[in-house]
Amino acid sequence: MAINIALDGPSAAGKSTIAKLLAKKLNYVHLDTGAMYRCVAYKAIHNGIDLGDEDLVCEMILKTEIDMKSDGSIYLDGVRITNEIRTDEISMGASKVSAHKRVRELLVAQQQKMALQKGYIMDGRDIGTVVLPDAELKIYMTASAVARAKRRHLENLSKGFDSDLNQIIQEIEQRDYQDTHREHSPLKKADDAVVLDTSDLTIDEVVTKIEELLPL
Ligand code: DC
Repeated sequence: MAINIALDGPSAAGKSTIAKLLAKKLNYVHLDTGAMYRCVAYKAIHNGIDLGDEDLVCEMILKTEIDMKSDGSIYLDGVRITNEIRTDEISMGASKVSAHKRVRELLVAQQQKMALQKGYIMDGRDIGTVVLPDAELKIYMTASAVARAKRRHLENLSKGFDSDLNQIIQEIEQRDYQDTHREHSPLKKADDAVVLDTSDLTIDEVVTKIEELLPL
């Protein structure tokens, strides 16, 4: 029988890559919850909405449709914005909007509704602690800030984006600080989550380790 898997951890720890591969192997649905916060930041920025104004951001979310296709593409109000939400500006914006309590409540409710059917691999920051506290398997995936920055740097270059490694390290450290110190649902390992440090592991090694943890 299908279960739900919660995959939490700091920015750029490889959660999305791993979740995508596992979902394919297990025939599960991957839900990248960070992409939802990114879509909110993207739309707010493009509509001149102050990311710090919780009321306006929430009002906007109620008029927003986020659609995640099984091939990984993401549509915001019907427009494909898969790559546009991956810039450093949107990363910082997503971190800002995700600090608002009511923004989180609106997105968490959507995530919980989707996972009712089981067979989901959800990656984020609060999946094991808030969104799916009853998930059958919880992983807390981490890696050193430098290892994570190097991966993001290579990813940027491969997509043709300008990239500065030192700047990425600084931004990752700043986002780690913001995500772990915010008042509402800060990034935190669930008590029953298994910790996986991926600093020195290949993608295949991480996937194998998680497969070994799946309940039979
Ligand atoms: O995983 P990501 O880098 O795409 O996430 C973007 C931002 O959204 C990140 O700064 C933290 C926030 N986030 C969150 O607060 N809760 C989640 N479940 C997922 C992401």
